[in-house]
Amino acid sequence: MAVTVRPLRDDELRLYLEIHERAIRGLAVSHYSQDDIEGWVVPATDENLRRLALNADREIRFLAELDGKPVGIGALVLEESELRAVYVSPEGARKGCGSALVQAIERTARDNGVARLALFASLNAEQFYAALGYRSTARTEVVLPNGHRMAGMQMEKDL
Ligand SMILES: CC(C)(COP(=O)(O)OP(=O)(O)OC[C@H]1O[C@@H](n2cnc3c(N)ncnc32)[C@H](O)[C@@H]1OP(=O)(O)O)[C@@H](O)C(=O)NCCC(=O)NCCS
Repeated sequence: MAVTVRPLRDDELRLYLEIHERAIRGLAVSHYSQDDIEGWVVPATDENLRRLALNADREIRFLAELDGKPVGIGALVLEESELRAVYVSPEGARKGCGSALVQAIERTARDNGVARLALFASLNAEQFYAALGYRSTARTEVVLPNGHRMAGMQMEKDL
């Protein structure tokens, strides 16, 4: 199966959120409560789509396709040297799409002079990032929009 990664287009924001939601609901439930999941998912409301389009953090976004079908999304914030997001829907999982997204993100970061990338890994994704050379630096948590605290791992990698 052929995996390709390309920049996300401006008219694919709804698709971006759909893949994000499918990945969370399909692949992260083993490690998180229903409250965590509901706080983590970003519903494709007009308000959320507007915020995504505004892109205040200047995320550089990617789309992964498996045999031409969109299955994964990723995001990088250069100013923060942060790998912001990698999500693959269940039907595309364990076929190298997540790794291809990380490779594209790392290449873009390196090309822009970033020497080290940091990320917040959900607990279900820690082994994935470890397999790609990221080291865990601290157990941490983030406060979700619904006020719920979500546990995860701070990780980093020298590029
Ligand atoms: C984490 C995620 C992005 C991985 O995507 P993927 O396309 O399945 O990853 P890959 O196929 O490139 O996997 C590469 C390697 O990572 C490791 N890996 C991936 N998923 C794993 C898992 N669930 N458990 C253990 N190791 C895993 C394996 O070593 C794998 O190689 P292998 O399949 O040859 O054994 C995907 O599971 C996902 O979207 N999860 C839900 C959303 C999420 O948590 N995203 C991260 C937010 S921080």
